Order: sequence, then structure tokens, then C-alpha cells
Amino acid sequence: MVSFSYKSMALVLLPSILALCFISSSAEFHRLEHAAKNDGSLSFLVVGDWGRRGTYNQSQVATQMGRIGDKLDINFVISTGDNFYDDGLTGVEDKAFQESFTNIYTAESLQKQWYAVLGNHDYRGDAVAQLSPVLRKLDSRWLCLRSYVVNAEIVEFFFVDTTPFVEKYWLDPEEHTYDWRDVAPRNTYMASVLKDLESALKGSSATWKIVVGHHTIRSASHHGDTQELVNLMLPMLRTYKVDFYINGHDHCLQHIIDSNSPLLLLTSGAGSKSWRGDTDMNHDGLRFFYDGQGFMSVQLTPADARIIFYDVAGNVLHRLNMSKEIYAAI
Ligand SMILES: *[C@@H]1O[C@H](CO)[C@@H](O)[C@H](O)[C@H]1NC(C)=O
Ligand SMILES: *[C@@H]1O[C@H](CO)[C@@H](O)[C@H](O)[C@H]1NC(C)=O
Repeated sequence: MVSFSYKSMALVLLPSILALCFISSSAEFHRLEHAAKNDGSLSFLVVGDWGRRGTYNQSQVATQMGRIGDKLDINFVISTGDNFYDDGLTGVEDKAFQESFTNIYTAESLQKQWYAVLGNHDYRGDAVAQLSPVLRKLDSRWLCLRSYVVNAEIVEFFFVDTTPFVEKYWLDPEEHTYDWRDVAPRNTYMASVLKDLESALKGSSATWKIVVGHHTIRSASHHGDTQELVNLMLPMLRTYKVDFYINGHDHCLQHIIDSNSPLLLLTSGAGSKSWRGDTDMNHDGLRFFYDGQGFMSVQLTPADARIIFYDVAGNVLHRLNMSKEIYAAI
């Protein structure tokens, strides 16, 4: 009898000891919490590739984000990177921060937390400045880190710094300069990001898992697929049953399905300059493509996800619904 209860105690304790070891070995990605709504649902907007002092329809997109943000009572906004054109910020005192962010996204519904990642254009300036708490003092909405996790109860977000993965940026330093402080050497950095991403995904018990990065994994537009991410990250997203990979980089809106898993690859990189005009409409898995400006909204409940793409005038271009039971993408 005694030995039996010891045994069952050990069985109860073992998982928590393992969990503790696991937590201490996976504390690399900075972790943040964001409360869901009272009914457990959550909604947010996604915009990417935007900072051009209002030009190229950035201001028009911002106005419509304000309107839809109000309608959906959003909890926050996600930026998929290339936050400031052409070459990121020159430093924390760069007025582009106010001129392209604070003074553009002025609607009341957008006065929420923004979660941002860096894009390749951000790396062409002072990348470290965008991560600085000084910017958070200038505009408390701003939060940009390299790779981090936001736990929002029914959903966990895994923000990944994808620019260092792209080898050509390292091989061609003549054309542009990149701010690799705290990143180089590339191989060590990638290995550590992938290891931390894997342990964060493995440890997640959230209903929905969403990975956000600047670069495309799959894309029918100008930049196309990012082979480094297809090779190194896509298998991990499949293994750990990530629901959505959300990116920018290509200045368009698109919805691509994965051939091997229920993963959806969603591009929202149309926050300002777009209309590139070189789309491969035969790209594998392409379900929706729009070459002009716009943004995306996501509404999540424990059972369903509703995703909507909008154009520069706020018109609905494409909707898709997903259910946790049957992956009924439309
Ligand atoms: C702004 O949006 C309108 C409507 O889609 C489009 O016709 C126009 O070309 C866009 N302007 C730029 C600079 O992309
Ligand atoms: C998605 O679901 C909502 C209800 O949650 C419904 O109003 C809407 O029509 C659905 N859209 C599609 C494309 O099925």
C-alpha cells in the first residue's frame, strides 16, 4: 500500500520535474503575456512593409485599419516588419518613427499594443534602435524584439527574426550594409533561434499556434519562396502543428496552403508601396492573391478562426474560416 502511493506520487511528480527542467532550458525567447477578451476570444490586425511617411497609400491603409480595428474591437496589431523605409531608423532620435508610425496610425482603435518584428530594410539602418525601450517611451504602443513569444491564452505567437537566415544579405555587403550587431556569426545565430523556436513550440499547449516572421516561406510574388526557411523552419512548423505562418516581405496579400499539413501561409505585406506586377499565379497551393495595398484581420475563438483580407478602401477581398475540429478552409 505504502509503496503503491509512493509510486503514484512519483508518477505525479515526474511530469512536473520534467516540465521544470524544460522551462529552465527553453527560457531563451523573451516571453510576454497578453490577456484575451473576457469571453476568451481575441482579435487583431496584421500589416507589413509600411513606413513611408504616409505615402504610397500608407495613410489610406491606416485609416481603414482604424475603421476595421474599431469594428472588431481588436486587442492589438502585428507588424510583419520592414517597419521603416528605405533603410530602417538611423537611431532612436530618427523622426521617421513619428512620421511613419505615431503620426500615421492615429485612429483610436489602433492605440493598442503593436508587436513588431524586424525586416531586411530595418537591418539596413540601426536595427538595435528599433528594439530600444527609448522608442517605447516615445510611443508606448511600440514593441519590437528579435524573436519572442506572446502568450494570449487561446493562442501563442512565436515571433521570429528571419532576416539573418537569408544568406544573400551576408554575401552581398557591397549593395547594402546590414546591422549584424548581436547577430553575427550567422550559423550560431540561426542554430540558436531554431533551437529556441523548437522548444517554445514543443512546450506550447495553446489551442492556436501562430508563427510570425518578416520573410515569406512560400510566395507567388516578387521574392518567391525563401529557401532557407523552407529548409530549416517549414518542417518544424509542420511537426508542431502550427496553424498559421504570417509574414510580409512581398508587398501583397496572399493565402497559400501547405501541401503536407494544415498549415496556412498568409502574407500581409501591403502596408504601403505595392503593385509589383510579377505574380506567379500558378504557384503551388495559392488560394488568394492581391497585388495592391491592404491588410488582414484575424478573429480567434477556441473553436474557430476568421481571417479577412481588405484593400486600401477597406473592401473585403477574401475571407477564410478555419475550425479546430475540421480544417475547413474556404
Ligand atoms: C493607391 O490605391 C489605389 C486604389 O487601389 C490605386 O489605384 C493607386 O495606384 C494606389 N497608389 C499607389 C501609389 O500605389
Ligand atoms: C465564417 O464564419 C462566420 C461566423 O463565425 C460567418 O458569418 C461567415 O459567413 C463565414 N464565412 C465563410 C466564408 O464561410
